[in-house]
Amino acid sequence: MKKSFNTEEQKTTGHSQWSNRGVFLLVAIGSAVGLGNIWKFPYIVGENGGGAFVLVYLLCIVLVGVPVLIAEIALGKSAQSNPVSAFSNLAVACKANRFWALFGYVGIISGFLILSFYSVVAGWSLEYLRVFIQNDLLGSDARAVEQYFTQLLASPNTLLLWHSVFMLLTVAIAARGVRKGIEKIITWSMPILFVILVILVLYATQLEGFSKAFDYLFVVDFSKLTTDGVLIALGHSFFTLSLGMGAMMVYGSYLQKDTPVVKLSFMIAIADTLVALMAGLAIFPLIFTYGLQSASGPSLLFISLPNALLNLPFGQFFGIAFFFLLLIAALSSAISILEPVLSFVQQKTRLSRRFTAYLIGSIVWLIGISALLAFNNWSDVHLLGERNIFDSLDYVTTNILLPLGGFGISIFAVWVVSKQSSTRKLLGISDSKYPIWRISAGIIAPIVIGVIAWNGLS
Ligand code: TRP
Repeated sequence: MKKSFNTEEQKTTGHSQWSNRGVFLLVAIGSAVGLGNIWKFPYIVGENGGGAFVLVYLLCIVLVGVPVLIAEIALGKSAQSNPVSAFSNLAVACKANRFWALFGYVGIISGFLILSFYSVVAGWSLEYLRVFIQNDLLGSDARAVEQYFTQLLASPNTLLLWHSVFMLLTVAIAARGVRKGIEKIITWSMPILFVILVILVLYATQLEGFSKAFDYLFVVDFSKLTTDGVLIALGHSFFTLSLGMGAMMVYGSYLQKDTPVVKLSFMIAIADTLVALMAGLAIFPLIFTYGLQSASGPSLLFISLPNALLNLPFGQFFGIAFFFLLLIAALSSAISILEPVLSFVQQKTRLSRRFTAYLIGSIVWLIGISALLAFNNWSDVHLLGERNIFDSLDYVTTNILLPLGGFGISIFAVWVVSKQSSTRKLLGISDSKYPIWRISAGIIAPIVIGVIAWNGLS
């Protein structure tokens, strides 16, 4: 690729722009839909007892997720710049303290840390894609399938190979630019993702475990819900909508200034939720048909699911489809985790987008190596309490940095930016929706986030 920055996509403002709103919708959904929906959501539903947890999760999306999502996109769109400058420029415009930019920096740090362990897990899906293509597990019994995953985690070289491949894919796409890279790849990959998911759900409806899975997800039994479950649901509503680190903010900054954001935010949240529920409807019927455990935790997709697939007609085909789906979902999210960091460093240093992407990618790749070694050679290295490096990265970001970022974003949007009538207009939230958004993003969300953070720290 030759120098493609500073082409027509940036002609008017010096800042990139999406081709149109539909494209924005797709890339934002691409960011939201990821390992969080397909890997994490089913297993935390399994660990927290099913229907009641799903209901609480839906409430969190509506009460906290959507208002913060609106705030994030609106801030980015008003500022038309990377998250750090968005905070500082808007703070200046509102005559507020520039320390608000600290929240932008929190997002930049979160980006490095989240992407490093995200890439390791995405690497597992690459390995399973290979396994299903080559049919390596053919004829294995349940024990052998379980051992396969245990052995994968014990092999630093295999983990390193796939982590590197995944990072390289992510960086190569991002390096090509907002339009020529991100937009181009996601406008074809998201439709494929939806088609595969629909096929997988239709397949699952044919299995005898389907009705049990349906009841499991949608019949509410509050006796199974714990306080911990409520907090996990809250934290996950953040992670799954890509909130709290400026990913949605930077995507919003590539929107035209007159774009209304409320409707788009609802559409993103609805699509993301549908995909999570459909992932549950695609996975649990297989698990139940084979009488496997729904509460098996993070290995649900890498032990229980392959086990079920091995026993099903066309299992190899659906295995390939499933892990390919997981890969494109992870890739479109990873690109969005990189983008705030990339746009910040690029705007600050004026280096080329391509060079910056590879530079940041290398740093993330290095941190990721320490995360994958946590499963084997460095399993004795504890960072935070008893947590190994991988768990510490996950913990610090999901429980501390993202809630902190989300807290700052919603307070700043409601109590600073929307206080001034000139900047309030820039947000693009219509008068009829404004009071509800103000209460939900300015009061309800910060309180709820405060509770998550409190729990995360205690
Ligand atoms: N939402 C993605 C998922 O569900 C992950 C993700 C992408 C993310 N961008 C983010 C999480 C920004 C937190 C912050 O897998």
